[in-house]
Amino acid sequence: MRILVISDIHSNSVALEAIREPFDICFCLGDLVDYGPDPAGCLNWVMRNKCEAVRGNHDHGTAHFVAVNGERGFRYLTSVTRPLQWSALDASQRQFLTRLPATRRVDVDGVRYLLVHGTPRDPLDEYLRGDFTEWSRQIRNQDVDVLCVGHSHIQFHRETDGLRILNPGSVGLPRDGDPRAAYAIIEDGKVQLKRVEYDVERAIALNDALNLPDKAKQMYRTCLTTGRIRPNGEDLFEGETVERSA
Ligand SMILES: [Fe+2]
Repeated sequence: MRILVISDIHSNSVALEAIREPFDICFCLGDLVDYGPDPAGCLNWVMRNKCEAVRGNHDHGTAHFVAVNGERGFRYLTSVTRPLQWSALDASQRQFLTRLPATRRVDVDGVRYLLVHGTPRDPLDEYLRGDFTEWSRQIRNQDVDVLCVGHSHIQFHRETDGLRILNPGSVGLPRDGDPRAAYAIIEDGKVQLKRVEYDVERAIALNDALNLPDKAKQMYRTCLTTGRIRPNGEDLFEGETVERSA
């Protein structure tokens, strides 16, 4: 079985459609929506491909009509793009988001996977980073072999004591300085972290056509062209010195 692992698409269907990998099953680790111009296209892709999907914090906020206020950083971008998600999605698409589970267990070829957007302890909002030994212990307690997470938009694969933790990175809004769409392939037990170039200018043009403040359009352009929120290379996790995003 060949598994495609994607996360944090963030309404960027141009990036999503650039991933031309054959796969038998797709794990989608949440944050399908917010920030980008085409939430409906991204949801349709995930629904059409019958992905094993979990809910991200942005899916939760969009599905439950959570309005966000913020003047800076990704919280600002969420505040101005979320109303556009509501108007772009129909009732069945919003229902799909509402019904996404916070965690999901999937067995493939005898390997036990736990899918979660944040962490097993806090599936929507906590970032998995730092002490991987701690997380290995948590996985062992949950009887899984591979923990698949998203949320940080940072791609990595770690293995400790035979336990694996995978973050495929972000399809639609990478934040590690590499603007190419990020994803992972698992085949025959081996994990490959992958990147693919896509038509960034097309995604920006779609966004520029929306009724958004110029500040938001410029921020989105910076994110997509640099792979960071700020052109000087500085990036911040949501919840650090920039205002927290939902
Ligand atoms: Fe995200």
